[in-house]
Amino acid sequence: MTKQFECIKIEKDAGITWLILNRPEKRNAMSPTLHFEMNEALGELALDEETKVLIITGAGEAFSAGQDIKLYFRETENDPVKKAAAQQASNNWRWHKLVHFPKPTIAMINGYCFGGAFTQVCAVDIAIAADEATFGLSEVNWGVIPGGIVSWNIAELLNHRDAMFYAMTGLPFDGKKAAEIKLVNYSVPLAQLREETMKIAKVLLDKNPAVLRATKEAVRTVRGMTHDQAQQYLAAKLTALTATDKDKGMQKGMNQFLDDKSYRPGFGAFKN
Ligand code: COA
Repeated sequence: MTKQFECIKIEKDAGITWLILNRPEKRNAMSPTLHFEMNEALGELALDEETKVLIITGAGEAFSAGQDIKLYFRETENDPVKKAAAQQASNNWRWHKLVHFPKPTIAMINGYCFGGAFTQVCAVDIAIAADEATFGLSEVNWGVIPGGIVSWNIAELLNHRDAMFYAMTGLPFDGKKAAEIKLVNYSVPLAQLREETMKIAKVLLDKNPAVLRATKEAVRTVRGMTHDQAQQYLAAKLTALTATDKDKGMQKGMNQFLDDKSYRPGFGAFKN
């Protein structure tokens, strides 16, 4: 049976696991307890054989209203140990655990997405938003900087003009604008968001999992490399993949295209 948590919810459906921030009455603001639970859940789901694709979203009308200003900031202000523990868990799951998650990750941004919630949007492999979602780097509005690692996230992912504009003005923007500035891949009307996200999850479910894992690791890792380093690394990575993929994906892929003529790689995946 799937474990029960206080601030998050896990739902599993035929290979797709939904990891849901579940404090709808607080617009899924992220409290220390939520961070500890997300840390634990992501650690377990990384090893869970039923989880082939992970989707992160929020319960109710929000994706996440960012850090819980009361429980994460005010209530840890005079307690350095509690504060450090919350910060560590928060940075760990929103960045390290998501970035290194061994299976594809999708963020489905269904509504409000403020401040600290940008980090998990930047960390996942694919992000899809509702046209009607509201994003905002609202930190400046209440007197802090985009902390945690939000400033680094937006500097890395966004164009400098957009990062500076939204961080300095704190102005909210919708899902369409989030797609235009490439904070998310694209947006669709809220009424179609779940169906569209499932469609992409199913595309990923069809692929060989070892190839998917190596692909996400490769694309992310080469970003910081020179051309020569990338060439050497990718050659080694491909050799490692073909040696360790128990499904022998590359051989199957070639055989099904060249011998069986049962599919075309340009249009879809081979049968694993
Ligand atoms: N931290 C703590 N509590 C939060 C919160 C946050 N980030 N975001 C929402 N809440 C709480 C509210 O205090 C309120 O609690 P209450 O019912 O006990 O009074 C409840 O969630 C609902 O919020 P409310 O403001 O009434 O809902 P709304 O739908 O009118 O507005 C937001 C939603 C998200 C626009 C608004 O709550 C907001 O601006 N939140 C702060 C967003 C932010 O700046 N986040 C960055 C933090 S780094």
